Amino acid sequence: MDLKNNLILRAAKGESIERYPVWLMRQAGRILPEYRAVRASLGGFKELVETPEFAAEVTIQPVDILGVDAAIIFSDILVVPEAMGLEYQLIEKKGPWFEKTIKTEEDLKYAEFDFDVEDRLSYVLEAIKITSKALDGRVPLIGFAGAPWTIFCYMIEGHGSKTFSEARKMIYTNPKLAHELLSRITKVTIKYLKAQIKAGAHMVQVFDSWAGVLGTGQYAEFSLKYLEQIASAITEVPVTLFAKGAYSSLGAIAKLDCNTVGLDWNMDVAEARALVGETRTLQGNLDPCALYSSHAEVELLTNNLLDSFKSKRHIVNLGHGVYPDVDPEKVKTFIKTVKNYEIKY
Ligand code: CP3
Repeated sequence: MDLKNNLILRAAKGESIERYPVWLMRQAGRILPEYRAVRASLGGFKELVETPEFAAEVTIQPVDILGVDAAIIFSDILVVPEAMGLEYQLIEKKGPWFEKTIKTEEDLKYAEFDFDVEDRLSYVLEAIKITSKALDGRVPLIGFAGAPWTIFCYMIEGHGSKTFSEARKMIYTNPKLAHELLSRITKVTIKYLKAQIKAGAHMVQVFDSWAGVLGTGQYAEFSLKYLEQIASAITEVPVTLFAKGAYSSLGAIAKLDCNTVGLDWNMDVAEARALVGETRTLQGNLDPCALYSSHAEVELLTNNLLDSFKSKRHIVNLGHGVYPDVDPEKVKTFIKTVKNYEIKY
C-alpha cells in the first residue's frame, strides 16, 4: 500500500525530508482519555492487547487525535516471555507480574523457543493487519519487541525493579544459563519481528529499557551480542535500537546493522552524534518531564532541541515513553512545534 506520509521512513534511511518526523514512545495508551474508555469497556489492559480490533483502534487514536507521523502497534514487550511459557499479569499501580520465573536450568521449560510464533502471537499479527488496513497508508506503522536483555530481566526477576539485581546476579553466578536464555529470547524475537513485518509493520523498534543497569563490558557480552543478531537478521525494513541509559555503549550500538539509534534525555545530541557518526539517524530526546511545563515553555524547549540538530538524520521523540499524567494538549504543542520547524540542512 502506498504511504501518503513516509517522512519517518525517509528520515530513518537518511533520505531527504522536508521536515522532521515526530512520534512519541508509548503514545498508544497511557495519556488519552479515549484510550482509557476503550480499555474500560473491555475490562483491562491484557484484554485490550489480546483483542485485535480494539488494539487497532487505540493504535490509531494518536494518529487521529495527536497528529503523529507514525503509529506504533498497541501491544507490550511482555507478550514474548508469555508466548515462551511465562504468563504475566499487569497489576494496577504495581506493573507487570510473573507468577513463575527462571532461576535454574530446570526452569528453561518455561522458556520455549521452538514453537510457531505466528500462531502463538497471532493476536498481535492480526492487530497489525487490521491497523494497516484502517490506516490506509496515512502514516507508517511501527512494530516492536523488547531487547533480549530487557526481556531476560523480566523473566528472571518476575517484575519491575530499580536494580534488576537478580538478573545481574545470574550473569555472575550462571553465565551459561544466562546465555542460553538470551539466545532463546533472541531466536523468538527475530521470528516475531519478521512476522510483524510480514503482517504490515513498516519499521521496527527494539526497546532495551534496562540497558542502563549493565556496565560497558557486560553490556557488550549480554546485550549487544544479541542485538547484533537481531539487527543483522532484519533486512526487510528500517530498524531502530533504543537502549535506555547505554550512553557508554552508544558508539557500539551504532555499529550494528541498524538505521536509527534512540537517545534518552540524559544524552546530549551533539555528543551522541559524535559517537554515532553521520550514517545513522538519531531518535529523541526531549525529557518526558518537559511536557509538564507551560505551552510556551514546551515550544521553547522543543525548538531548542531542534536547533541542536545539525543534519537531516533525526526523528523527533521524547527521551523515553510519555508519562501517564501528561496533558495531551501539551503533547499537541510539542508535535505542532516540530511540524512548524524549518529544517536548516
Ligand atoms: O508505544 C506504545 O504506545 C505502544 C504500546 C507499548 C506498551 N508497552 C503499552 C503499555 C509499548 C511499545 C510498550 C513497551 C514496553 N512495555 C516497555 C519498553 C518501553 C519502555 O517504556 O521502556 C516496557 C519496559 C514494558 C513493560 C511494561 N508494560 C510496564 C513496565 C508496564 C506498566 C507500567 C506502564 O504503564 O508502563 C506495562 C503496561 C503497559 N504497556 C501499559 C501500556 C499502555 C499501561 C497499561 C494501562 O495502564 O492501560
